[in-house]
Amino acid sequence: MTDLREALDQLLEAVPPKRLAESVQRLIADYRSGRPADEPLLRNMVDVTAYAAYRMPATHAAVAAVLAQITISPKSVLDVGGGSGAATWAALAAFPALDTVTILDQVPEALKLGQRMLPRATWQEWHLGEPTDTADLVLVSYVLGELTEDAQHDLVDAAGAAARQAVVIVEPGTPLGYRRILDARQRLLEQGWTVAAPCPHQQQCGMTGKDWCHFSVRVNRSALHRKVKDAALGYEDEKFAYVAVTRQPTEQQGRVVRHPAFRKGLVTLQVCNPDTTVGPTLVSKREGPTYKAARDAEWGDRWPPHSEEH
Ligand SMILES: C[S@@+](CC[C@H](N)C(=O)[O-])C[C@H]1O[C@@H](n2cnc3c(N)ncnc32)[C@H](O)[C@@H]1O
Repeated sequence: MTDLREALDQLLEAVPPKRLAESVQRLIADYRSGRPADEPLLRNMVDVTAYAAYRMPATHAAVAAVLAQITISPKSVLDVGGGSGAATWAALAAFPALDTVTILDQVPEALKLGQRMLPRATWQEWHLGEPTDTADLVLVSYVLGELTEDAQHDLVDAAGAAARQAVVIVEPGTPLGYRRILDARQRLLEQGWTVAAPCPHQQQCGMTGKDWCHFSVRVNRSALHRKVKDAALGYEDEKFAYVAVTRQPTEQQGRVVRHPAFRKGLVTLQVCNPDTTVGPTLVSKREGPTYKAARDAEWGDRWPPHSEEH
């Protein structure tokens, strides 16, 4: 991440902060609108640089958190709709053995910017519907939300067909992002993939009512990041929803789906369980090592932890 930060800060020096800030405000409004774009949202080099400045650290952090949840050993990665390559940076850090790294996107300026930061990768102009190469790991990070439902299906199908070991799809941690993830999950299951994370089962999602499955990662903001976003806080919490599918059998281990709640001598974990139920698990001080593990557990972790993690 430090490397990505440094690469970004160098690039951003080239664009006047006022122009970046204007572009950031427009992009924030466009992305929040939730409308599928009928033309690329990133229109020029300033937009692309603005996107990189205010979003890359957060999408990078979300993808890094997701990749930490799966056990694979990819040699190649394909980052589809990869923009300036935030997800690729996360993959490179997670899997040092990667030797073939390809980023596909429809916006040439995004590719150009990404290439300046990461020249060793292959940056290729690509439009949804065109064929792709295959790779061990296929990443689709914050792309589905820009597409119509039909196009989302096409992209998920293409990602599933292109991947050998795993497909990872990440979306904003909103109810709509979660819906898109559920839909993608279903399609990948139908293609014969196994859900490796976050779900501890292959059945229908057990979250009901107004609840939606999402996670959170804290991202430190650099001085420049704060400036372009006109933000006062030194950090932000990036909320994300995701699905990661692999070829391996799934582990029958639950997942913590909210921030744990602590009271004196009692930890309450909201857990999604292998039997598809989602509900509170109470762990009291009397439970010794399990209590200690519960105090250390974080939103997004597996539960109960493996015995060697106690
Ligand atoms: C929100 S950005 C995400 C970029 C990057 N994956 C990340 O996580 O930071 C969405 C990207 O999807 C690309 N994209 C959207 N629709 C596309 C399409 N039909 N064909 C190719 N790329 C597309 C956009 O150009 C943009 O770079």
